[in-house]
Amino acid sequence: MKSVWVDNAPYVKFEALDGNKNTDVLIVGGGIAGILCACKLKNAGVDCVLTEAAEICSGVTKNTTAKITLQHGLICNNLIKHFDEDEARLYLKAQIRAGEEYARMCRNIDCDYEKKDSYVYSLHDRKKIEKEVAAFNKLGVKAEFSDAPELPFAVAGAVRVKDQAQFHPLKFIFAIAKDLPIFEHTKVVELQPGKAVTTHGEIRYKKLIIATHFPILNKHGGYFLKLYQHRSYVLALQSARNVDGMYVDEADTGLSFRHYGDILLLGGGGHRTGKQGGCWQELEAFAKKHYENYQIAGKWATQDCMTLDGVPYIGQYAKATPDVYVATGFNKWGITNSMVAADILSDLIQGKPNPWAEVFSPSRSVLHPQLAVNVFDSTVGLLTPTVPRCPHLGCALKYNRAEHSWDCPCHGSRFAENGELIDNPATDDLQLKKRV
Ligand code: FES
Repeated sequence: MKSVWVDNAPYVKFEALDGNKNTDVLIVGGGIAGILCACKLKNAGVDCVLTEAAEICSGVTKNTTAKITLQHGLICNNLIKHFDEDEARLYLKAQIRAGEEYARMCRNIDCDYEKKDSYVYSLHDRKKIEKEVAAFNKLGVKAEFSDAPELPFAVAGAVRVKDQAQFHPLKFIFAIAKDLPIFEHTKVVELQPGKAVTTHGEIRYKKLIIATHFPILNKHGGYFLKLYQHRSYVLALQSARNVDGMYVDEADTGLSFRHYGDILLLGGGGHRTGKQGGCWQELEAFAKKHYENYQIAGKWATQDCMTLDGVPYIGQYAKATPDVYVATGFNKWGITNSMVAADILSDLIQGKPNPWAEVFSPSRSVLHPQLAVNVFDSTVGLLTPTVPRCPHLGCALKYNRAEHSWDCPCHGSRFAENGELIDNPATDDLQLKKRV
């Protein structure tokens, strides 16, 4: 179940920490967000160190479909609904800047970067699409209505934004990571103010960035209420009809399409982690119906942190932790939002103003209907009397038949059948009782 990026990535290995160390900024988590933060800080002359519990990009980053686009679902109408037009413009400007930064960096990196148009389609609701096109244009970003004729089925309409991009994420990340101060196989086991205890020594820091996908610091910030996790699935199909763009359904449970070379990456089958969904079965049924003579070149799944209002949490971790920062909740759009995170956090750490920091602030209001859903699901998980129980906060785990794992419906931790931790926010393996 490996992604297509894994087989031909130019891997770079890093040593584990060896003894104690001092640094100005400690970054915990070696996915794309942490690595971009380290890159930006190092380029600004800031002393920093990044620790990764396993190997860099061994978590969700290797499973992305790697679309570099500002079109995050029907984002404009969502932003206007939950924020105001000025804040919506700032969100888009942050994404445009991120796209420009990728274009600049990728000029010198062999990472299959290519410009592509981006589409968000609706199967049945043309009005929704027309409204989103109008919202984009009102916010100053050119978008147009399209019938999305490349898709193998009819749609009610699609929003098209030209000149977005796609790339090979691991070729890009390993190229930028190779000169960074990274320690692999160095798990942080305890965080204290100004000090991190790891499996290979202690690191004293002045500022801390937590970039562990789901934030691992439970005591502050209430992230276990402000986030939930969502799983989605990808089939890599060789010899399926090419789509010369990046397509995403506006519906949460819809499909996504992009090509990498002659391989179609078909995404979908999604569901909240720990609940039922279509998984690969749904994608395989779709492929059988719409394509002929294709071969399955790979299949994998990924996991995304979803916020209450569709905007990531990037900034100060919590009001009570002035020197701790977080980047999380990318809502399935981790590539551009990781670059936004690096932009915001490097400015905040250097005491510089950042034009869009306020929009992404983790301290913004939590008054949103999704909060009630998260609280309800967590309560049900806690009260369900079955075993095994999740080592994070004790919810009942559900067995995931498609992936042979134990998944937590409360906050999305996942464990292999032997109890090994796969996904945060739990930080420890699951202790399974041996059957007698
Ligand atoms: Fe929080 Fe399982 S992830 S209780």
